[in-house]
Amino acid sequence: MNAQASTPAGWGTERQSPFGVRFLAGPTAVLADLEPRAVLDLIAVEHLLILRGLPASLSVEEFEAFGCGLGEPILWSDRPAFDVQAHPEPEDHLFESGFMPMHFDGIYSDDHTPDLQIFHCVQAVDPALGGATLFCDTTLVLADAAPETRALWGDLIVHYERPIAGHTVTRDLPLITRHPHHGHHTIRYSEPVPAGVTIINPPRVTLPDGHHAETITADLHEAIHDPRHLYTHHWQPGDIAIADNRTLLHTRQPYPADAPRLLRRITTRHTAKPHPNRPRGQGHAAVPPEKYRSPLQDGQASTRTAPSG
Ligand SMILES: [Fe+2]
Repeated sequence: MNAQASTPAGWGTERQSPFGVRFLAGPTAVLADLEPRAVLDLIAVEHLLILRGLPASLSVEEFEAFGCGLGEPILWSDRPAFDVQAHPEPEDHLFESGFMPMHFDGIYSDDHTPDLQIFHCVQAVDPALGGATLFCDTTLVLADAAPETRALWGDLIVHYERPIAGHTVTRDLPLITRHPHHGHHTIRYSEPVPAGVTIINPPRVTLPDGHHAETITADLHEAIHDPRHLYTHHWQPGDIAIADNRTLLHTRQPYPADAPRLLRRITTRHTAKPHPNRPRGQGHAAVPPEKYRSPLQDGQASTRTAPSG
């Protein structure tokens, strides 16, 4: 998919480094200019699309109308858009502002791994203070890995344990797996918390017996955070990011807990049954956002919380 060919009228295009595409809104540009089919085809190839120049005042309803056009929304609360921000008394590291392991969303869900993450930045932190979101393209990591390293990684089943809502959830996942819709190989991983770092509900990550866990963990960390594979997004109010959660890993830069930072996030999944090596551009369906009328619109408060991954 040619990014230039996907650019709607009234928008400019920039390539990002080391991956992803940025659309720049012109004076007359609006979010509705973007055709969902074209966005999905672009994400299938580029894995990350940033929209810059839209107003931070974009309403939740407008954002949800766009996000729900890209797939079936996964509800972590009472409506598709979920507020990601630091809480004064956080119950999980998702709502802290410090260290967060590099991960993909849905790792601890039974069947709710999102295909896409869609973020809208309402408030941003001064980049000098942190608060950026880091995306790692794992196809680039695998492309640069030595054959023997890739073979070693390909044999690994990683064991995860993570406290969620008073229970310990466990998962055993292959480190390398194919993208369920497009067939390319990806790394599916959540990094361990470094020694000396404390977070709420830390995941415990264990490699199989017989492997040099410290060496493998260090090699993975170096590869995932290699500037050739890592894009750092410094948010500006109004930014929208659409990310392939099946290919990328992500985390945030720590920032001061009292700094205003608010991202609205929608996660979606493609509605057709996944199939290995499915040709690009098939199997996506939109869900009308009006289907998910929020109790918040009726003055009720949300009490549910969402796992960070
Ligand atoms: Fe996440």
